[in-house]
Amino acid sequence: MRQEAVSLLRCPICRGAFSLQGSSLVCGGRHCYDVARQGDVNLVPGRRETFYTKELFVSRAAAFEAGVYAPVVEAIGEAVRRYAPGDAPVMADAGCGEGYYTRSVCAGEPFVRIGFDLCKDAVRLAAKSDKGSTYFVGDLANIPLADHSVDVLLDVFTPANYAEFARVLRPGGVLVKLSPREGYLRQLREAAKDHLRHAQYEGGRVEEYARQRMTVLEERAISYTLPVGQELVRHLARMTPMLAGVPVEALDLSGVTEITIDETMVVGRFE
Ligand SMILES: C[S@@+](CC[C@H](N)C(=O)[O-])C[C@H]1O[C@@H](n2cnc3c(N)ncnc32)[C@H](O)[C@@H]1O
Ligand SMILES: [Zn+2]
Repeated sequence: MRQEAVSLLRCPICRGAFSLQGSSLVCGGRHCYDVARQGDVNLVPGRRETFYTKELFVSRAAAFEAGVYAPVVEAIGEAVRRYAPGDAPVMADAGCGEGYYTRSVCAGEPFVRIGFDLCKDAVRLAAKSDKGSTYFVGDLANIPLADHSVDVLLDVFTPANYAEFARVLRPGGVLVKLSPREGYLRQLREAAKDHLRHAQYEGGRVEEYARQRMTVLEERAISYTLPVGQELVRHLARMTPMLAGVPVEALDLSGVTEITIDETMVVGRFE
């Protein structure tokens, strides 16, 4: 748990500020949360199951490690540099999963990095592999961060809560939201089409919703197709919620030799 992040965190129950006492975060209302040996902390009292499993995040990590999403990181980084003001801006990654974007966007540059997700396993994976950021289990619907504490908020393929995003962003702060377009992983959807109700993916709705809720500063498509080997194809099939419900291990993916990444990035501000 990094000290500079402790002052930004707020108790999800009473919204009180925290102090770090031994290995616990304790708020003014005496709510107490243990910081794990790995450095992460669970700020969602009670147990919440999500559709996302540890295996899915291990496969996401493998696909990220292979560089499939490196151009996306580059595009996000360019936008972040354009809009993040001042020294050591605070970058928070909402629904960070195993932390790829938290640790990779503008890597090596002086940001205060925070990642949170509802999935405990994902947060633990993130905390284990990245000591440069602060990770916690947190809910988008009740983000345990102080009002106006964040300069750049990332939301990559994750549900949005615009009221909470507007609350935690500083005046002038930006939301960078990524969502899939029609071509995203189309080769996998094609290979699984007998198991899918809608093999065609219709993008556009997420962006439309975003445009209605914030002032859009820029919007761009990030699209490319890469050659991929069989092992990587398997990881991509396991990592994507687009194949939810599909018996992925039984799929014949031998014909999939390339993969299309097709995303929209919207950067916006709440006035
Ligand atoms: C498709 S994954 C994307 C994860 C990560 N941004 C990435 O690109 O690898 C969506 C993530 O949203 C998280 N999520 C879903 N609902 C959430 C909520 N209410 N609060 C926080 N995270 C949530 C899930 O646990 C999951 O990690
Ligand atoms: Zn409290």
